[in-house]
Amino acid sequence: MSKSSTKKSKSFTLTENSTGNSFELPVLEGSVGPRVIDVRNLYAETGCFTYDPGYTSTGSCESTITYIDGEDGVLLYRGYPIQDLAGKCDYPEICYLLLYGELPTELQKSKFEDNITHHTMLHEQISTFYRGFRRDSHPMAIMCGVVGALSAFYHDSLDIADPSHRMIASYRMIAKIPTIAAQAYKYSIGQPFIAPRNDLSYSENFLHMMFATPAESYEVSQTLAKAMDRILILHADHEQNASTSTVRLAGSSGANPFACIAAGIASLWGPAHGGANEAVLNMLEEIGHIDNIPKFIKKAKHKEDPFRLMGFGHRVYKNFDPRAKIMQQTCHEVLEELGIKDEPLLDLAMELERIALEDDYFIEKKLYPNVDFYSGIIFKAMGIPVSMFTVLFAVARNVGWIAQWNEMVEDPSQRIGRPRQLYLGETERTFVELKKRK
Ligand code: CMC
Repeated sequence: MSKSSTKKSKSFTLTENSTGNSFELPVLEGSVGPRVIDVRNLYAETGCFTYDPGYTSTGSCESTITYIDGEDGVLLYRGYPIQDLAGKCDYPEICYLLLYGELPTELQKSKFEDNITHHTMLHEQISTFYRGFRRDSHPMAIMCGVVGALSAFYHDSLDIADPSHRMIASYRMIAKIPTIAAQAYKYSIGQPFIAPRNDLSYSENFLHMMFATPAESYEVSQTLAKAMDRILILHADHEQNASTSTVRLAGSSGANPFACIAAGIASLWGPAHGGANEAVLNMLEEIGHIDNIPKFIKKAKHKEDPFRLMGFGHRVYKNFDPRAKIMQQTCHEVLEELGIKDEPLLDLAMELERIALEDDYFIEKKLYPNVDFYSGIIFKAMGIPVSMFTVLFAVARNVGWIAQWNEMVEDPSQRIGRPRQLYLGETERTFVELKKRK
């Protein structure tokens, strides 16, 4: 895996007003993107910590995997623009690219796919494990549990110091996550699990495991398989977002990869992150009619009202999310190819987008539709239940988590993640015995 070395450029001088003391901080330059002030020695030299809740100004690691320019709406995987990849590659090629840093040759691709295909089955006892969940469990709850439990089944890929263990664990995760996700769905609707089929592509196999039943033959729609593949590609990685940072932080202690991915899934579940696609659809249903849009826009703008327009805004993109543009186009293609002429939720979404993009509040705060704004509508058209939306995001992002986890483990500068705090609690107090407390 290639890794370009960080360049050191000029330094940054920090002056303490009260004492006049100055401190030189090195400034690092990546291959592209903003310069980075290296504060690693700040505490040792100044006795101060930095304070940055939400890490809006903090880089947590070096990475060569994904680059985002939020101002210009650019997203690159290993240097390739997402628009090129989404139009010309399939998902296994993207997995290879994210893991190894290069697009595969034909031979490398077929070997990789063969490896992935032959790890898609789950240990039989995992099927028994599912039965411990209530039937009405949210599939994301099942995902957190079952993925974490993989470490109890695959003992031969837990030694993170061994590169071959790491690679087997990575292949297993990429191969098995669609099976786990499809089984979470089947369990929640009371249908039998459908075994993976090695003659199908990654996306075809996933759809087959989701929608086939033992009672009749099921033909995977090429339209849906193509759309699924594109959705997986668009969500495959997104640099140091909340779930990826969670995977890295969990992994920084030396935890095994299955446990780390389970932590990532838990983080993804939240409505501000991967849970947004589910929340968008629920919101559109709540809005119900185009006439109600102004009322909801007003609510979203109201300072005291916690309501937000789901599918709008992004921590990094202050321009159109490039994934949202592709997703919008895919959405139209899917609806057209499925012959869905009138999709009231899409009409509602289009109108909401139009009104929000003309509204001063959204313009000033640079709140554009994000990737989740359209994915829910596509999933709905594909017949995927709302509770599975975030699960699909997890299936797609799994490879990003794996690639980032591998990069972290191989990074010699990696240390356990341990942020500091600005303590505002009581200073040391005298202990009072229970009987004497008032
Ligand atoms: N609707 C209304 N107002 C919003 C929205 C929104 N969707 N998003 C941000 N704002 C306002 C926010 O109230 C704040 O206003 P003020 O400056 O007056 O306090 C300002 O915009 C900045 O917002 P922020 O919360 O400080 O921004 P953030 O970078 O911390 O949050 C976000 C980013 C994605 C969590 C947020 O925009 C949001 O909650 N969006 C809706 C949920 C969503 O669609 N999430 C999916 C993100 S894309 C998929 C992924 O990467 O997981």
